Amino acid sequence: MDGNGRWAKARHLPRTAGHTEGEENLAAVVRSAVKRDVGWLTVFGFSTENWRRPRTEVRHILGLHEKLFGRVAELDDLNVRIQWIGRPFRSPDARTPRFVQRAIRKAIDDTSANTGMTLTIAFDYGSRTELAQAAQRIITNDLPATAEALEQLLYLPELPPVDVLVRTSGEVRISNFLLWQIAGSKVYFTDKAWPDFDEHELDNALALLA
Ligand code: IPE
Ligand code: MG
Repeated sequence: MDGNGRWAKARHLPRTAGHTEGEENLAAVVRSAVKRDVGWLTVFGFSTENWRRPRTEVRHILGLHEKLFGRVAELDDLNVRIQWIGRPFRSPDARTPRFVQRAIRKAIDDTSANTGMTLTIAFDYGSRTELAQAAQRIITNDLPATAEALEQLLYLPELPPVDVLVRTSGEVRISNFLLWQIAGSKVYFTDKAWPDFDEHELDNALALLA
């Protein structure tokens, strides 16, 4: 969900205002995706690299994730199941603070019976780290180094292959997001910053699958 900072800058607002708007927009995009019968929506909320941002900005983004994972009533109304992808809380390099861990656990538990779209939030996520830990587990457990074995050791093996990857805010490049899962995926690039990613944009992305 890239471009929150630029969205704010263009409006002479602090970057934090862009993140707040971005979180609101995710709620709107979730509603639009449900309306269009999307089965799986996975969003990059916060990366393993994002911890290097200024402390006040990080704190603001953490609060927004607490809020996002707290939208359970809304998600229940939409029959949306929450999932999370990122460095497992027990792993030595994991950085998700306790209050966000609690919000994540609660959101997953509280929405686990919903049978509609699965909304997966990537938080403290990096694809290369995900692949490296899978490779390490293959070695440790003396498993065959096959694609099938590795796939089962990703953070969220149930996540299906990506059909369409969306890149917002004019970035025409791939990031450290679901590198394994995007093999063969369509890619939708848009100049719109994430807070401006609307229903029309979602339709453009989905049209690549037609
Ligand atoms: C994405 O918006 C939000 C996060 C990475 C958490 P950015 O903050 O990267 O916005 P730009 O790239 O500065 O516009
Ligand atoms: Mg950015």
